[in-house]
Amino acid sequence: MPDPTTQSNYLQITSEHVDLDWTLDFDTKVISGSAVHHLLIKEDNVKDAIFDTADLDISSVEIAGNSVNFSIKAKHEVMGSALHIELPSGQKSGNYIDVKVTYKTTSGCTALQWLSKEQTQGKSFPYLFSQCQPIYARAIAPLQDTPSAKIKYSAKVTSVLPVLLSAIRVSPPSNGPAHDGKVIGKDAVTYSYDQPVPIPSYLLAIAAGNVRYRPFPQFQDKQWTTGIWSEPEMIDRAYWEFSEDTARFLAAEENIVIPYKFGVYDLLVLPPSFPYGGMENACISFLTPTLVTGDRSLVDVVVHELTHSWFGNGVTHAEATHFWLNEGWTTYIERLLQEKLHTPAHRGFSYVIGSKALYDSLAQYQDRSKYQRLVIEFEAGEDPDDAYSSIPYEKGANFILYLERTLGGLDVFLPYVKDYVNTFIGKSITTAEWKAHLYGYFEKHGGAEKIKALDSVDWNAWFYGEGLKLPVEMEYDTSLAKQAYALAEKWDASRSTEDISQLDFKESDLKELNSNQIIVFLERLQSYDQLPGQHVKHLGDLYRLSTTSNAELRLRFYEVALKDPVSSAAKAFASEAVNWVIGDDGTGIIKGRMKFCRPIFRAASKVDKDLAVRIFGKAKDGFHPIARKLIEKDLGLVH
Ligand code: BES
Ligand code: ZN
Repeated sequence: MPDPTTQSNYLQITSEHVDLDWTLDFDTKVISGSAVHHLLIKEDNVKDAIFDTADLDISSVEIAGNSVNFSIKAKHEVMGSALHIELPSGQKSGNYIDVKVTYKTTSGCTALQWLSKEQTQGKSFPYLFSQCQPIYARAIAPLQDTPSAKIKYSAKVTSVLPVLLSAIRVSPPSNGPAHDGKVIGKDAVTYSYDQPVPIPSYLLAIAAGNVRYRPFPQFQDKQWTTGIWSEPEMIDRAYWEFSEDTARFLAAEENIVIPYKFGVYDLLVLPPSFPYGGMENACISFLTPTLVTGDRSLVDVVVHELTHSWFGNGVTHAEATHFWLNEGWTTYIERLLQEKLHTPAHRGFSYVIGSKALYDSLAQYQDRSKYQRLVIEFEAGEDPDDAYSSIPYEKGANFILYLERTLGGLDVFLPYVKDYVNTFIGKSITTAEWKAHLYGYFEKHGGAEKIKALDSVDWNAWFYGEGLKLPVEMEYDTSLAKQAYALAEKWDASRSTEDISQLDFKESDLKELNSNQIIVFLERLQSYDQLPGQHVKHLGDLYRLSTTSNAELRLRFYEVALKDPVSSAAKAFASEAVNWVIGDDGTGIIKGRMKFCRPIFRAASKVDKDLAVRIFGKAKDGFHPIARKLIEKDLGLVH
């Protein structure tokens, strides 16, 4: 069965390489150019090559310099329009054919956000960035847009602003003068890139803007390099935030699995409308600027993204159904690194933080229980973004942790992890292939006892179980959470004291807690009944939570306030919360990361639907098209 999210015929004819030649136009907000696919015929007499496209304006298709017939089928709401290209008759399996498509992107492009200069840090130049996962790559190029068919690519991009791609820079050099020494914003420069490692299409990425590079120090005798890109106004802070940890974690990860294969691992800090915390684009992870907090407290997102270099970018889920193989494994390994580079308590603590997100997501999907599963059977054309939640991350990581424990701990499990990556690196796999290898490995390296342990696992419950709980109750090291729990309990116990001046809380209560512990404190508070309105107000004022620039904390505070939509606290804070998300809190900074904007709009709409819809309407053009689409769905404005 082919991947249900693509209309391409990648099983009959497979693209192995695409060569992109693009020009960026920041005035008309269009990428124009061509894509040349190098396709391997897999079936004799295949008649067409079918590509995924979405809102592309295609002007011509050529084979060996001659125009050929093509047709663009009616647009499917999720999958886009299939581009059918007629092939010369008599194609033979095993042969190659090159197909050139000339096209432009259009204003309907869901993968790209073109920012005005006002929407950037520096306010002097416009900016462009893409987000292709899960199925938006087809909106920037005609592709076989499925993670089952990995592809190499090369690209030449001409632009008046520096260009970054998810590949290795060929020219001009990253560490040379910005924009090859030409006038930024005025002179056109052609950037040339090459991605020699086959990657899933969702890792195709572009960013262009007034960005600068600063390399991180070379790590020991490693062959790879790391460094950071951002607008010049951010580069010092961004460098400080990640320079200590990036190469160190990448090197630690190599010890757990196998050497890093992509040569370059850079970070790019984007403008605030970037819809994710991080995105593991090949050779360059894209990051939300909200990670740059000045205390290195959110570097775990970088650890997560770099872990994808093996789990996702190396061993890839074959299709949306098996997405948990990417995110569950990455989350498991990211937390293992916390144990290796910090302490076992840190590992436990990340599971504690994650479990709140898991239970919230499970509850959110109570009416669509299919999405509570780890392995989700998608129907043809079903939108994988509808299923996006913490479940594949958290259920997945807990499942692997459970297997680690069931099989006898890390000493037994880590050699298996290495073997898993070695076996499947460069491939795209399903859950069944993963499981077959697991059994195969332990048959060879453990025998009857380990097979018995594996047979004790309730596979069905882990893969297809629904409901609000994990199939097995998990225990974690909670030592780092204890203080936070105690403070939350004290606030809960204070609810009957009506006179706020009598409350025994001090600003310094939070002094001993790091920001992750404050998150746990605020999330623990949400597990109790809604606090009275004046308590919530006192909480926000005393600990400065309603003004903090740390978005992770501010989100949790508003979640405490809006927990019960009919409460006085919810009524008092709904408007402040949505205005914060759209930057109307005096910062002018949109909180475009969906982890912040979606829960706030959802919670506020339960308190006052009109308010949420109105405020969203006012600001929606500032959000990335993907965030816009998903918030519209959350608010019931579209289906
Ligand atoms: N690959 C994901 C982001 C993603 C997943 C984008 C599916 C589109 C579709 C990325 O690695 C990720 O998981 N980001 C997280 C951060 C992480 C620390 C959990 C995020 O953005 O919150
Ligand atoms: Zn991830």
